[in-house]
Amino acid sequence: MAKITNICCLGAGYVGGPTCSVIALKCPEVKVTVADLSKERIAQWNSDKLPIYEPGLDKVVKTCRGRNLFFSTDITKAILEAELIFISVNTPTKIVGNGKGRAADLKYVEGAARLIANTAQNDKIVVEKSTVPVKAAESIANILKANQKPGVSYQVLSNPEFLAEGTAIDDLLNADRVLIGGEESSEGRKAIEALCSIYDHWIPRENIITTNTWSSELSKLAANAFLAQRISSINSLSAVCEATGADVSEVARAVGLDSRIGSKFLQASVGFGGSCFQKDILNLVYICECLNLLEVAAYWQQVIDMNEYQKSRFSIKIVEALFNTVSGKNICILGFAFKKNTGDTRESPSIFIANTLIQEGGSIRIYDPKVEEDQIFEDLTHPSITHSPELVRKNVTVYQDAYSACEGCHAIVVCTEWDEFTNLDYDQIYQKMMKPAYIFDGRKILNHQQLMSIGFHVQTIGKRI
Ligand code: NAD
Ligand code: UGA
Repeated sequence: MAKITNICCLGAGYVGGPTCSVIALKCPEVKVTVADLSKERIAQWNSDKLPIYEPGLDKVVKTCRGRNLFFSTDITKAILEAELIFISVNTPTKIVGNGKGRAADLKYVEGAARLIANTAQNDKIVVEKSTVPVKAAESIANILKANQKPGVSYQVLSNPEFLAEGTAIDDLLNADRVLIGGEESSEGRKAIEALCSIYDHWIPRENIITTNTWSSELSKLAANAFLAQRISSINSLSAVCEATGADVSEVARAVGLDSRIGSKFLQASVGFGGSCFQKDILNLVYICECLNLLEVAAYWQQVIDMNEYQKSRFSIKIVEALFNTVSGKNICILGFAFKKNTGDTRESPSIFIANTLIQEGGSIRIYDPKVEEDQIFEDLTHPSITHSPELVRKNVTVYQDAYSACEGCHAIVVCTEWDEFTNLDYDQIYQKMMKPAYIFDGRKILNHQQLMSIGFHVQTIGKRI
C-alpha cells in the first residue's frame, strides 16, 4: 500500500470531528475530509460556531480548515478520493426488534459500508472507529466483498477511539495508546502499517499497539466497562458511607493510593452519564447472553443497575429532605451536561433528576453554561422520558445565568461539576432564596462547611452532613 495522502471520515460527530481535526493538524501533507449526511452539522463545522463544544477544538479547526481539513456533504467525492476511510458513525442501542434495549444498532455502520462498496473505484483501507460489537469488522468486510467491483480490494481495520468528551483534544494529542486491529495476513499487516504511519506523526511507536481485529473490538468495550465499573463501585460505597458515617472521598483516597488500584475514576457522583458507558455495557451484556455466558452478562449488568440506583437514590434524597413534597416548589438544577467542559447531554443524570422532580410537581429552573434551551426541552420532552411534554413545558424554565436561576428557589441541585459553580457567591444566592434553603451537591464540588455557615442545609453524596 502506497503512502496515505487522502483520508475521509464518514461521520462528523463528537469522534469524527475532533479526531480528524487532530489528524489534519499533525499530518499537514494529508488531505482530510470529514463527510456527513447531515447538511446542518456540516454547515456548523464550516461556520464560526462549531456543532460541539470541546476545549481547544476551535483553534485546531481554525488552523487546518481550508488547508488540509474539509467538512463536506459530498460523501461520494470524499470516498472516491480517499485511500483510507474512517467509519465514525453513531452506534446507538437498538430500540426495536431483536436485542432491543441492549444490542448495538449497526444500521449506520452498515449504511456507511454500503456507501463505500457502491462508490469505491480503487483499493481502500476501511477503518472501523465507531464502537461496535465483536466481529462487526467481519460484517463490514462481508458487505464490502459481496459488492466488490473488479480491481477493487478492501482491508478492514479496527481502530477504536478512547477520547473522553471535555478533554478530547488533549486525549487525542497525548493518547495513552492507539489500538489497531487487523487481519493476520500480509495484506492485513500492510494496512495496519499504513494506519500506523498516520499516527507515527505524533504518537510514539511503543504506544501504538496492534492486535487481531476481535481483540481490538472487545478491548474497546472492555475499557469502557472497566471505567464505568469503577464509578459504580465507588457509588455503591457512597451508600454505605451515608449509612455509617464514613466519608466516600476519604475512602476513595485511601483505596486509590494503592498503586495497584490507582486514583482515577473514583469520584463518587450522582451517577455516570454520556452516550457510551451505558450503551457499550448493554452491548457487552447482550454479546455475553448470545454466547450463553449468563453469569458474565449478569456481572456487567450490575454496573448499569448500580448507576440507576444511584440516580434514583439521589432524587429520592432531594424529595425527602424537602418535607417529602416538591409540589409547587422552585428547584434550581445547576448543570445539564453529562460532565463539565461539554455541551453534550446524552444520558445525562440531570435528565433523570429533572424528570423525577417534574413528576413530583416541582417547578424546575435549569442553568448550564454550554447547553442550549432547545436541547434541554428536547431531552426532557422525549417520549422515552415523559408522556406529558405539556407538563415539562409548563414546569421548566431555562435560565442564562446561575444567580437568576437560583432566585426565589427552595433548593439548588448541583448535577454537573462545572468550575463556575464552585466560584458562585453563595452568600448572595442565599439571601434571595426561600428559607430553609437547601443545596444538594451531586458532584461533591462545593465547600459544605462554608455553605452551612451561611445558613444552607447541605446534603451530598457519600457523606452524612
Ligand atoms: P455522533 O452521533 O455525534 O456522530 C455520528 C455522525 O454520523 C452523525 O453526525 C450522523 O449524521 C453521521 N452519520 C450516520 N450515518 C452516516 C453515513 N452513512 N455517512 C456519513 N455520516 C453518517 O456520534 P459520536 O459521539 O461521534 O460517536 C460515534 C462513534 O464513536 C460511536 O460508535 C461511539 O460509541 C464512538 N465513541 C464515541 C465517543 C464520544 O465521546 N462521543 C468516544 C469514543 C467512541
Ligand atoms: C468515556 C471514556 O472515558 C472514554 O475513554 C471513551 O472513549 C468514551 O467514554 C466513549 O467511548 O464514548 P466520556 O463518556 O466522554 O468518556 O467521559 P468520562 O470522563 O468517562 O465520564 C463519563 C461519566 O462518568 C460522566 O458523567 C462523568 O461525570 C462520570 N464520572 C467520571 C464519575 O461520576 N466519576 C468519575 O470518577 C469519573
